[in-house]
Amino acid sequence: MSKVTIDNVTDVVVATLGQNGAITERQREIMTAAIRHLHGFCKDVNLTHAEFIDACMFLARAGAVCSDKRQEFILLGDILGVEVLCDMLTNPVTGSESTVLGPFYRENPPVLPHGASTAQKHFDGEETVFMEGYIKDTSGRPLAGVTLDIWEDAPNGLYENHDHDQPDYNLRGRFETDENGYFALRALRPVPYPIPADETAGELLRYMGHHPNRPGHLHFIVAKHGYRTLVSQVYDSSSAFLDNDSVFAVKDSLVGNFQKGKPEHGTDLYLRFDFTLKPEAAVSALAAE
Ligand code: BEZ
Ligand code: FE
Repeated sequence: MSKVTIDNVTDVVVATLGQNGAITERQREIMTAAIRHLHGFCKDVNLTHAEFIDACMFLARAGAVCSDKRQEFILLGDILGVEVLCDMLTNPVTGSESTVLGPFYRENPPVLPHGASTAQKHFDGEETVFMEGYIKDTSGRPLAGVTLDIWEDAPNGLYENHDHDQPDYNLRGRFETDENGYFALRALRPVPYPIPADETAGELLRYMGHHPNRPGHLHFIVAKHGYRTLVSQVYDSSSAFLDNDSVFAVKDSLVGNFQKGKPEHGTDLYLRFDFTLKPEAAVSALAAE
């Protein structure tokens, strides 16, 4: 091995890739760029050894916080804008825009009938909303049998799995479109909330001088076999933090207009929002270009 210097250390490390075991071209591409960017970053800021150790201790604390209820590394990636960037790189915009999944999704939410409410508990000051819309493909054909998972925070700003006082799966549900691609559900107006900032996510936000707040939003996963699964959110156009989201996930096309409720629905608010799904084959073809 060559003697390591400041000038050659990057090339020396890159040259070890695949030397002691086969690696794929993708592994080589990722690790070459990761090593070059990481070394470049250390040189740009003249990272000291003490700062390197601080960073290691920070990552160790982040790891210790992770559990099946908290994924600290997704939060850190969100605060740095990395999740939203990877999502945009993965999902070219041809149908509805996607955005970050975030750490609060729970699989297998309750399957609810057309028009049912996801709310299992009432909160002072809550505003109920009737939401309806159509799900189509990119040629405008209605899609039947699409599943639509929805989840949101409660009016106290907490997701149910972070709040002992909410019933299991409160404000979560799975709906399905009918033969016209139509869905309808009842939920609550989502309120702005701070992402968990008590542990390393908070340390990072403070180091960056940024706040933890997100604008009010409903989360969705819209899925049908043969189509690219859409992970997205719909934002309340009147919410605080719409222009200053702590995780950079707001897109203009995802801002919804919560209007006054219609008497026939018996809710405080009404929201119409349609989604468009892209055939998987078309997305894969785009990505290959
Ligand atoms: C969320 O909207 O649930 C979320 C997204 C990114 C980080 C934290 C929370
Ligand atoms: Fe959220």
